[in-house]
Parts: sequence; C-alpha cells; structure tokens
Amino acid sequence: MNDNQFAKKIVCVGAGYVGGPTMVVIANKCPEYKVTVVDISEVRINAWNSDELPIYEPGLKDRVDKARGKNLFFSTDIDRNIAEADIIFVSVHTPTKTFGEGAGKASDLQFIEQTARRIKENSTSPKIIVEKSTLPVRAAETMASILHSGNNSVRFEILSNPEFMAEGTAIRDMEEPDRILIGSHDTVAGNAARDELLKIYLKWVPKDKIITTNLWSSELSKLVANAFLAQRISSINSISALCEVTEADISEVAGAVGRDSRIGPKFLEAGVGFGGSCFRKDLLNLVYLCEYYKLEDVAKFWNSVVEINDNQMERFVNCILKTMFRTLVDKKIAIFGFAFKPDTGDTRDAPAIYICKRLLEEKARLSITDPHAISNARKDLSGIDERAEFVENPYEATRGAHALALITEWPEYRSLDYQKIFDSMSKPAFIFDGRNHLDHQKLFEVGFNVYPIGRPPLTHI
Ligand code: UGA
Repeated sequence: MNDNQFAKKIVCVGAGYVGGPTMVVIANKCPEYKVTVVDISEVRINAWNSDELPIYEPGLKDRVDKARGKNLFFSTDIDRNIAEADIIFVSVHTPTKTFGEGAGKASDLQFIEQTARRIKENSTSPKIIVEKSTLPVRAAETMASILHSGNNSVRFEILSNPEFMAEGTAIRDMEEPDRILIGSHDTVAGNAARDELLKIYLKWVPKDKIITTNLWSSELSKLVANAFLAQRISSINSISALCEVTEADISEVAGAVGRDSRIGPKFLEAGVGFGGSCFRKDLLNLVYLCEYYKLEDVAKFWNSVVEINDNQMERFVNCILKTMFRTLVDKKIAIFGFAFKPDTGDTRDAPAIYICKRLLEEKARLSITDPHAISNARKDLSGIDERAEFVENPYEATRGAHALALITEWPEYRSLDYQKIFDSMSKPAFIFDGRNHLDHQKLFEVGFNVYPIGRPPLTHI
C-alpha cells in the first residue's frame, strides 16, 4: 500500500516494552492503518528492524514478521512521522524521580514534556494524543497546557488509555484483554476522539470489555490496579513470615483463603518479593500523590506495601546468612534466575539485584545463571561484580557451590538433575527456594537442606 491508501496514520512515541508490543498487535489487527513506532534511540529502532528484536516476548516475533514493512514501521524520524500522524500514542518512560522535589517517589515527567513539545512543534493538523505511559492523575492537564501554549492554533484532544499487559504475556494480554480502558473529556471533541480509539479496539475486542470513563478516573485506575496487585503480594508475603514461625504452610493458607470467591486465587504466590519496572514505581507515585493532597494516612498505607516488599527480600538474605552459620565469606552461592519473573529478560527492579548486592556485601562468591537475563545481570552488577560470575549452564553454576538460591521460577529449573547437582556441591548443601518452585521433599531425600518461603525447612543438620 502506498502512504495515501491507509485509512489513518498512527504513530507511537517510545519503542519500549509497552509501545512496541502494543503497536505490533494494533498493526496486525488493523491492516488498513499505518502504524509507525518512533524512538530517539537508533540502536533500539535498528533492533526492531532486525531479526533480533530488542525485547523478548512470546509470540512477538511472528507478529512483527507478519506486519513489518507492510503497515508496521520503526523509525527514528520522529518529527516527520508526528507531522503526518492522525493519532499519536505517547509511550515514553516515566521513571521515579531521582533528584529534587519528590525524589524517590514522584514520576519524572521530563520525557512526557519533551514529547508534548515535539508534537506541538511538528503539528499543523489536529491530532488525537493517547497517553499510554503510566502517569500521575491529572497529567493530561499538563500535556494539554503545553500542546495548546503560545499562539498554537492546532487542536489536540487527549485521551488516557493505560496499558494493563504484563511482561511475558504481553501479546496474549493485548489480544485477549480483561478490559480496555479509555478516558476522555466529556465534550463533543472528547467523545469524537474516544470513538476514533474505540474503532481501533473494536476490531478485535468485544464491546463489553471496553470501559470508558473520564480522563482522571482512567489515569488513576492504572495506578490503583498495580497498587492492588502489589498489595496482594505484600499481604501474602507478610503472612509467609508468620507461617515460618508457626509451622503453618503459606501455600495451604493461600489456597484456603483464595477459595473465597470474593478474594480469588490469583496473585497469592509468596516469594522473595515483587519486582519489575511498574509496581514499585507506581506505588511510590501513588504515595507521592497522596502526600501532595495531604492524605497522610492513605500515603502511609500504600507505602507499607513497599516496606513489606523490602523486608521480604531482606528476610531471604537473612535466612541464607543465618542458616549458613552466619558467614558467607568466600562461599559460592549459585543464583538461579535474575529476571524479575520468568519468560522475560527484563531485570528492572528485580529482587535478584538487591539480593545479590547484599550477598556480595557479605563477601559471598556468586555464580549467576538465567536463561534470558545474563547480559542485563552483568550490567546491573557492574562495578561490584568482582566476586560474581555469569554462566549459561546451571550445572556449571552449582559446581562446588555451598548453596543454591532460586530467585526466578523459570520452568526449566524444575526438570534439572538435582542428584547430579547435589553430587557436585560442597556439603552440607543448601537450597533456598525463594519462589517455592522446586519439589522440596525430593530435594530433601537427595540430601539437600531445603529452605522454602513460608513453610518449615527440611534439614539434615
Ligand atoms: C504488572 C501488572 O501485572 C500489569 O497488569 C501491568 O500492566 C504492568 O505491571 C505495567 O504496569 O506495565 P509486570 O510488572 O509485567 O505486570 O509483571 P507481573 O506479572 O505483575 O509480576 C510482577 C512481580 O510480582 C514479579 O516480580 C512477580 O514475580 C511478582 N509476583 C507476582 C509475586 O511475587 N507473586 C505473585 O503471586 C504474582
């Protein structure tokens, strides 16, 4: 198709974990729309245009191959693509601020502002702007002020359309979503823009799964959805500590509690704590917003979800230290899994980073293995990795090790030959299963001393 034959031109600013997969699915489902993903990073765009995509996501490659070069394009030519676009998704990152007012909590909105300015400078026709990045509530107001500032006569209509997909299942979450949320202003122009976006999703999402709200509810719902999910994990993790001292078993407790249909069984897996680029960032952002509006008690409540998560990682490290006779100096510990969860190579805010740093502080030697995250692990520990090695093969990681600490529940870790691993390790051999992922009874019978989360250890000593 040549450019003029496309019904509409969609541009997404930001070719990351959200923008990339979202646009790939839209391009697959809407062949009559031209979809272009732009980014300032040439390396990233080149990767999207190659066979080695910049992110690992099941099903992504097939979808890219189907649409790339036909109605899906990746480009660094941001200005020209903005100028030609009818609909612009803004999917740039909004990390936690590390400086100045709100440091450590508020979202850093500099990339959002830069994008808004760039859109304004390059637009001569009206456009629909769709917030995809997770933003503080009322961020659309700021965007609108920038876009309509000065003597700009071009009109922009802003929509909020937060993303609920999770890494590792991004394509499925996008193709078969629980819900699509669209927030708009209740004005003629707002409703018209909302209907344009609805038209896209209705190509594959049933109407009853699409929720429309006002802009502020939509922006806030994204933060609250992540806060609720994180809160469930901190709730179950807090109870895992209680299980360990009372000989209750966290899996049995979670199973019994989750059978209440009002509570439900999902997101009740105790572990070393949640990671990923979103939960901590969004919780802290929520805390900041509450503090900003002087809701101190509400801020305290959500901050405690982060505190419990920090404590859970520290509890795991303490268990290793206490069990291994209170010294880790020169002991080799094999780290199984560094990604923040399986099926991704992403290590952003991964519990493994914190846990490995703490173990290195205790002067342990680490042998880190992960099916997809070794190169990120190297970067995360660079500068403090003198005592760390990074190996592909889990058998090599455990050879001569005093302990194995499982941090990410990759399925392949269940089917390893643990007799062979035990035979190659120093004795007494310890397993700290930070995700209750392995067959503990079997490991105990092989000879390991096994330390799960939230249930009594199985030990020979
Ligand atoms: C999360 C949300 O699940 C998505 O809905 C949301 O769209 C996304 O953030 C986002 O805002 O972009 P994600 O961070 O990809 O998705 O991963 P999750 O599957 O939610 O897992 C987050 C962390 O929680 C992982 O470290 C995982 O190991 C941990 N977790 C999850 C538990 O410790 N226990 C559980 O029961 C579930």
